[in-house]
Amino acid sequence: MKQRTNQEISFRFPKGFWWGSATSATQIEGAAKEGGKGPNIWDYWYEKEPNRFFNGVGPEVTSDFYHRYKEDIALMKEVGHNSFRFSISWSRLIPDGVGEVNQEAVKFYHDVITELLIHDIEPFVNLFHFDMPLAMQKIGGWENRNVVDAYVRYAKICFELFGDRVKKWFTHNEPIVPVEGGYLYDFHYPNVVDFQRAVQVAYHTIIAHAKAVQTFKQMNIQDGKIGIILNLTPSYPRSAHPADVRAAHIADLFFNRSFLDPAVTGEYPQDLVELLREHGHLPVTEEEDKELIKQNTIDLLGINYYQPRRVKAKEHLPNPEAPFMPERFFDYYVMPGRKMNPYRGWEIYEKGIYDILINIKENYNNIECFISENGMGVEGEERFRDENGVIQDDYRIEFIREHLKWVHKAIEEGVNVKGYHLWTFMDNWSWTNAYKNRYGLVAVDLEQNEKRTIKKSGYWFKALSENNGF
Ligand code: BG6
Repeated sequence: MKQRTNQEISFRFPKGFWWGSATSATQIEGAAKEGGKGPNIWDYWYEKEPNRFFNGVGPEVTSDFYHRYKEDIALMKEVGHNSFRFSISWSRLIPDGVGEVNQEAVKFYHDVITELLIHDIEPFVNLFHFDMPLAMQKIGGWENRNVVDAYVRYAKICFELFGDRVKKWFTHNEPIVPVEGGYLYDFHYPNVVDFQRAVQVAYHTIIAHAKAVQTFKQMNIQDGKIGIILNLTPSYPRSAHPADVRAAHIADLFFNRSFLDPAVTGEYPQDLVELLREHGHLPVTEEEDKELIKQNTIDLLGINYYQPRRVKAKEHLPNPEAPFMPERFFDYYVMPGRKMNPYRGWEIYEKGIYDILINIKENYNNIECFISENGMGVEGEERFRDENGVIQDDYRIEFIREHLKWVHKAIEEGVNVKGYHLWTFMDNWSWTNAYKNRYGLVAVDLEQNEKRTIKKSGYWFKALSENNGF
């Protein structure tokens, strides 16, 4: 695609805008039993219950980035990346979570970083993306404070090993998701349904985060920034009725502000604390925690946005026998006329991205932020291949463009947003959905030895990045 002239660009982004994508170790690396990697909860759960994964496809091979990273990073350049977020697999680096560092893993991540830098792609590194080492889960995962200490040691090792070349670090990706999946709604291992345990897991995740931030700051890494990646699904009430508004407020407290407030402001929202107290669900805490959280706020916020959350006041009294759930306080609301991505079952509401950014500007001190994930998973994309073998994913281009218009508007209104990372670079393994929905700018053909081909959106993204706008 050709470079455009100035006049042809309607939406120009600030100089140096970060264009790229995000992914995670378990979703692309494969080599689950190679290179000295220890098992994580995904390897284990798949072994126990392969039926829980779409078409029975597990995490052993995924997109084989472990072996093909050079080819993949060259392709990243071809689709216009100037930055790329990946995660380090804790169980690859420290197979049992606490012991020896695996030198093969050190070499692998070193090589990946080198290759990115050779291509002028800035590495953004995340430390935890849903992938608890099995040895750590066996002693209770985030419920156990010893696991918090093990995580902080792991984080420190990563900063020491790679901090000279990696300048953007993230403690967690979507930390609410393992809470939801593993302790409330049964879509991650350990498949517990228990609100009290969920609260404890969420709380210890924040303690782990704050301690990692503290360690990072003590190390004084030159030009280094540390942050967290949050899925800030905005909560929209059905109506202006006070009961609907309150329902939306509570959903916001549980799913967004439980991590956003402590990470950015250093304090939990008082009304969340009161709500948990009233229902007897406060976590076990230690005295110095409050100060730890207060002192260790982030430099940079990553925002993942896929869909809004629409809620209304509850229609019925909750079943007193049923497990206590966040939905004790609200019902989900299906807005008539909503636009859907039918494959993932998620509403598409582009303005949501703007609403999040304005909220960050107005209520979170306009902290430096970027869109760290946004994207569209579509099933059966092979049917859109044209005679040249290129997948014609115009719907993805439209999805990105329509979201970017709102990001652009937010920038014009003064939001401190520095970049846009798509989910994701190449088709990858979506947890229990495995390879059902494809998100990549680059297709991975599972039938043909995982052959990579750039999709139409990949060419479009390259032009977007080169023109710094569209
Ligand atoms: C985000 C995660 O929730 O959304 C990714 O950070 C995930 O790990 C992505 O893959 C898309 O969701 P899904 O469930 O369709 O893979």
